Amino acid sequence: MKIKDRLKHLEELEKQAELGGGEEKIKAQHEKGKLTARERIDLLLDSGTFRETDKFVTHRCTDFGMDKKKIPGDGVVTGYGRISGRPVCVFSEDFTVFGGSLSLAYAEKICKLQDLALKMGCPIIGLKDSGGARIQEGVDSLAGYTDVFLRNVLSSGVVPQISAIMGPCAGGAVYSPAMTDFVIMVHGSLMFLTGPDVVKAATHEDVTFEELGGFMVHNEKSGVAHFAVETEPECFDLIKKLLSYIPQNNLEEPAITDCSDDPNRCDRELDTIIPDSPIKPYDMFEVIKRVVDNGEFLEVHKYFATNLIVGFARLNGRSVGIVANQPGVLAGVLDINSSQKGARFVRFCDCFNIPIITFVDVPGFLPGTKQEWGGVIKNGAKLLYAYCESTVPRVTVITRKAYGGAYCVMSSKHTRADINFAWPSAEIAVMGPDGAVKILYRKKLKEAKDPKALEKTLVDEYTDKFANPFITASKGYVDAVIRPSETRPRIIEALEFIENKRDSNPPRKHGNIPL
Ligand code: HXC
Repeated sequence: MKIKDRLKHLEELEKQAELGGGEEKIKAQHEKGKLTARERIDLLLDSGTFRETDKFVTHRCTDFGMDKKKIPGDGVVTGYGRISGRPVCVFSEDFTVFGGSLSLAYAEKICKLQDLALKMGCPIIGLKDSGGARIQEGVDSLAGYTDVFLRNVLSSGVVPQISAIMGPCAGGAVYSPAMTDFVIMVHGSLMFLTGPDVVKAATHEDVTFEELGGFMVHNEKSGVAHFAVETEPECFDLIKKLLSYIPQNNLEEPAITDCSDDPNRCDRELDTIIPDSPIKPYDMFEVIKRVVDNGEFLEVHKYFATNLIVGFARLNGRSVGIVANQPGVLAGVLDINSSQKGARFVRFCDCFNIPIITFVDVPGFLPGTKQEWGGVIKNGAKLLYAYCESTVPRVTVITRKAYGGAYCVMSSKHTRADINFAWPSAEIAVMGPDGAVKILYRKKLKEAKDPKALEKTLVDEYTDKFANPFITASKGYVDAVIRPSETRPRIIEALEFIENKRDSNPPRKHGNIPL
């Protein structure tokens, strides 16, 4: 072939690859309200920065007449580019080609990209829209998936991995995103291992695709997804925002941005935010927003286990991870789901050198057979483990309750937190005054003429004596009792003091977190 002809051939191949499954399938994709794999990449990356890799790779299957159905690129668009000027690798599954199903060649393209991201130390983003293993390829497709999964695991904690679910994500397609750091689901997208037909045959349950694995199901119920968005453009904006808090890899620090919010800003409203009654709720979001730069908070897992809040913010331009009990939901109690949620977030921050700020108002762990039988012990232990093993700078603020085991867990001094503050409203004790009095004075209360009046007196006495921050401060378990209004400057000052912290764990293959 002459060079002139080769150039023509190149053009033809490029055109074929860019058409994917063809005009009709692209039309069908648009009619479903979805963008194509390439349109998605265009919206995600900085304009003109995308460089495609393996554009001409085709599958190698010969069964089911597949040898006559080869499309350059084979169902996934892979390559690298930039987001906000920083390098990223991206792959975008093309539903117009065999329903975005994964062949061995398709998997090899993703694996090459995963290897590149790992070597270059840059984030990798997967835009998912796939019917799962390409059924025509049999075990080759399973092998391909597992090659991808292996790389997800080897990349974990080295480079950030983000998955956006833009359409179906079926069967084998689910496990790669499940092992990435963040899963975003767009309205109308699906994640399921087995479809409704299989579910019906196995369990007689009659469910729709949405009931089984719709975007809110995984945001609210399973916790598989960390974010829910209505539209695809919203999804891309979210990815950009999320990346802005995160360094490129585990050897880098998050970028420091210009801060227009005064680091010495005090907030008098915080002095009165805690209600007089210890059983009255208040909104911990209010506390977070009044403390962080410009009140900006990117909440992670917004719809899952809402008794615990986790997310990203900045303090004097530095990226921080926030973990906070929410007294407005279940009194801020820790339970199975909130412990898992917190543990995963703490471990993410620790992997990527993001300091953790913890706001504590927790009455304890949720009691009951549902929790005990469901493993609240081992799940609560996950959060405890995650805090204990973390070596990033940590600042803790106890705003009100810190009772029992939950006191220990929530980034207490004993878990190696660096600077621990308490507000004067803090109540730190083995258990709440009501419970403590009932146990300590059971006999006395039984014999009393007016047990109610006695109980009140004893509860008041206990509260004065134990449920305050001063005993804990006298033992050095909190470093300082601070005025709530000064929380922002005190945290910023502490963070700047501990930013060069060096801490490590004993050498070992890996710990054995109670999974
Ligand atoms: C090959 C597939 C496919 C697959 C879809 N297609 N899934 N081809 N392998 N897994 C093809 C369809 O045949 C169709 O081709 C085209 O993609 C579009 O699919 P539709 O069904 O028309 O689209 P839609 O109505 O939008 O439904 C999408 C869907 C559905 C919900 C994803 O296709 C579906 O349920 N697919 C099967 C999902 C599944 O059970 N996957 C698990 C595979 S086993 P034509 O030519 O007609 O347009 C697996 C195990 C791996 O993944 C485990 C590894 C750990």
